[in-house]
Amino acid sequence: MWIADQWKDYEIIDTSNGEKLERWGNYLLVRPDPQVIWNTPKTHKGWKKKNGHYHRSKKGGGEWEFFDLPQQWTIQYKNLTFNLKPFSFKHTGLFPEQAANWDWFSEKIRNAGRPVKVLNLFAYTGGATLAAAAAGASVTHVDASKGMVGWAKENARSSGLSDAPIRWIVDDCVKFVEREIRRGNHYDAIIMDPPSYGRGPKGEIWKIEEAIHPLIKLCVKLLSDKPLFFLVNSYTTGLAPAVLTYMLATELKSYEGTVDSQEVGLPVSSNGLALPCGASGRWEAR
Ligand SMILES: C[S@@+](CC[C@H](N)C(=O)[O-])C[C@H]1O[C@@H](n2cnc3c(N)ncnc32)[C@H](O)[C@@H]1O
Repeated sequence: MWIADQWKDYEIIDTSNGEKLERWGNYLLVRPDPQVIWNTPKTHKGWKKKNGHYHRSKKGGGEWEFFDLPQQWTIQYKNLTFNLKPFSFKHTGLFPEQAANWDWFSEKIRNAGRPVKVLNLFAYTGGATLAAAAAGASVTHVDASKGMVGWAKENARSSGLSDAPIRWIVDDCVKFVEREIRRGNHYDAIIMDPPSYGRGPKGEIWKIEEAIHPLIKLCVKLLSDKPLFFLVNSYTTGLAPAVLTYMLATELKSYEGTVDSQEVGLPVSSNGLALPCGASGRWEAR
């Protein structure tokens, strides 16, 4: 498992009974997590001192209960600053396990010894975009939601990256990739972080199991002659790491490179175990 263990402002303190107790900077949140199927005793005092608790509803969805939580605050990861606002569904605006991937590709970009053009699809609030830009890449950031792109720009400002070479695009990822192929544009690296289910700006339906392989195939047409890496994340438990390896190895076979896929996870400080948070597939040039 690739574990994001370099955080100072974030930690999972404990997990029990379908929930995780997390520290986001100075604030404690309790949020649901379907992976937490065990019912260990909630002995850590943080369970009682939480600042926010997302309660699942039996009808689907749920709602937040807040105890002394600001509307917005920031946390740092190395040289990046993220604005957090836990209002949309159970999310805070950041998937901290992705830091394991940010570190992996940032080193590749820094050591490439040439300009690197990155395409970040389903780019959400910009974690991967900012990490790639801070490492020296120029980045095209694509997300269907105008609000998310606005939030990502806010994170770029907070991280001192307002003037970094980032192209912000509100579009459906499949449509954007098809358009880029027609325009003859190329990228040295591709990152995609698709949801299990999503919609483009015009209601285009995205279902990961049906759409991911065709999208990887299309994206290969956008690669430059010397691609650096290709990263695919999946939060869907149905897409096992070996499935990611299979797709990447099949579609990138004409390039000199290697593929490795693993679960990604976060350390749990109360017991030293790791909580699984999905999987990533990484192709890298040899
Ligand atoms: C980071 S991903 C996955 C987040 C989360 N783990 C989940 O499964 O919902 C979600 C992002 O993809 C975007 N998105 C969903 N469908 C899209 C589409 N067809 N084209 C572009 N972006 C899309 C959403 O706006 C959102 O910012």
